[in-house]
Amino acid sequence: MNDMPTLRDELGIWMAAGFRSALPELPADAVIAVAPTAQAGFGDYQCNAAMGLAKRLRKAPREVAQAALAAAGTHPAVAKAEIAGPGFINLTLDDAWLARRVEAAASDARLGTPRPGDGRTIVLDYSSPNVAKPMHIGHIRSTVIGNALDRLHRFLGYRVVADNHLGDWGTQFGLLIMGFRHFADTAAYEASPIEELERIYVKSYEQSKADPSWLDAAKAELVKLQAGDAENRRLWESFVEHSMREFDRIYARLGVTFDLVRGESWYNERLPGVVARLEKLGLARDSDGAVCVFSDGTLPPKDDPLMKQEDGEWKPAPCLVRKSDGAFNYATTDLATVLSRAEEFAPDAVIYVTDERQQLHFRQFFHVARALGVTTRLVHVWFGLMRLPEGTFSTRQGNVIKLERLLDEAEERALAIVKQTSPEMPEAVQREVARAVGLGAVKYADLSQNPQSLVTFTWDKALALEGNSAPYLQYACARIASVLDKYAEQFPGGSFAAAPVALGEAVERALALHLARFPEAVLDAAAACKPNVLADYLFSLSQLYSSFYQNVPFLKAPEGVRESRLRLCSAVAAALRAGLGLLGIETPARI
Ligand code: ARG
Repeated sequence: MNDMPTLRDELGIWMAAGFRSALPELPADAVIAVAPTAQAGFGDYQCNAAMGLAKRLRKAPREVAQAALAAAGTHPAVAKAEIAGPGFINLTLDDAWLARRVEAAASDARLGTPRPGDGRTIVLDYSSPNVAKPMHIGHIRSTVIGNALDRLHRFLGYRVVADNHLGDWGTQFGLLIMGFRHFADTAAYEASPIEELERIYVKSYEQSKADPSWLDAAKAELVKLQAGDAENRRLWESFVEHSMREFDRIYARLGVTFDLVRGESWYNERLPGVVARLEKLGLARDSDGAVCVFSDGTLPPKDDPLMKQEDGEWKPAPCLVRKSDGAFNYATTDLATVLSRAEEFAPDAVIYVTDERQQLHFRQFFHVARALGVTTRLVHVWFGLMRLPEGTFSTRQGNVIKLERLLDEAEERALAIVKQTSPEMPEAVQREVARAVGLGAVKYADLSQNPQSLVTFTWDKALALEGNSAPYLQYACARIASVLDKYAEQFPGGSFAAAPVALGEAVERALALHLARFPEAVLDAAAACKPNVLADYLFSLSQLYSSFYQNVPFLKAPEGVRESRLRLCSAVAAALRAGLGLLGIETPARI
């Protein structure tokens, strides 16, 4: 059933045909869509097109709705279609049709989700920490959110090129090389490289403040490195390798993998060409020895944030592509990178995941990339910084070491809970469950929030067994598994795998309808680059399941009804597992 349209699309196609045949004068670009009804009592889906279209055609909206509905005729999915208020069309699904729909989803590993991404490619630039510096909280969020976007898009059929765009070519390397030569503690460097590199960097930086000749020497080391000096190159490679080893430990633990790990250095040779091309096109010019893109000629609209200067004036922000000392900028590297990606992968979109502080950078560089002829869709997914209560990640902005401690603590706290809820479990299993629950809790605390809102992490909320948390959803899966086990025990030889689904009770119908919307949640989460859309869906699903579980008998129901209910249960578990999987969260069989 891979080509099954979503429920809303199926109804939307039907409604659109009705509108078009009733109103042949409708312009081709008119949008006629159907969406879930927000309020109970107004059907399951709603089409609000009549109001807008009537206005455009200068007709009465209710009459437009009436005519469209009459022209649409009947649809097997729709039991009742009513016009309400100024011209809403409220659609109520037919129970038997909905039941068949849920049966189809229940026997499909993808729960009826289409693959609109087949044949399309996206490049996903995420995590991207800076070498020799601790991963700060921004990189951690980028890693967790980026990885969920990766999984969501792959599931929808996209070819995803996940690229960890390491910051491995900054000006910090001059100071680092000087510092390393003078103050390195080899044992500390081997044991925890990033911590030691950071210490060295800070010390070298302080030295450069006190002693200008130190700074000059550091600059000379940077020039040597960039010119390919063998000894400096060797040191730099060692910094990259040691940092990567530490980052990889985190990635392995979080279940994160990349298709490419191309740092900024990979594009180094292309930077002069980018600046030359900008100059040749008349887009960049000299400004006190530096080279800038001033975007006059193709000015962005007046109220565009690109135009806002620090002093509050509205004029285009110049985008620096080469400093007066000849060094290139962050923007130059991103331009070279996007040109290379466009050429190598011909992607439909390039998506960048970083914290909110880089919004201006991305707007500027997207603007210049367009001027350079990049037509690929460019998307900056930004998120707010997560607030951490004292004593979790904190003091030094959540460095790698602290992140590992946070993950350790999550597992320890989860273990205490598992020991309480499942004392009979062997210790090794308890630990394995605690790992999945602890890591899931940390990831979900991040993913369940709108990326663009400020989030405060608390242990109580992340690990709550009730409420919108990973443990709650994981626990729901495990509870369903045990219901299914009981069925197998009590009814040996019984089977619900192909049982017809009947939607006799209101709670049952509400659950089935929500299940049938799984594909819509996945599509919306991917399209908006907001994993929280899927998290919200999963939380509602488990809440509907709870009221189903509390209000109707399963095992004590009469034969037939019993199998129908168990089939629904198992489909709910499949949706929860698939959905959590798309968020990078494991679901242990037992909790
Ligand atoms: N390394 C950068 C930082 O730590 C993030 C890079 C994001 N990706 C990009 N193509 N600019 O801030």
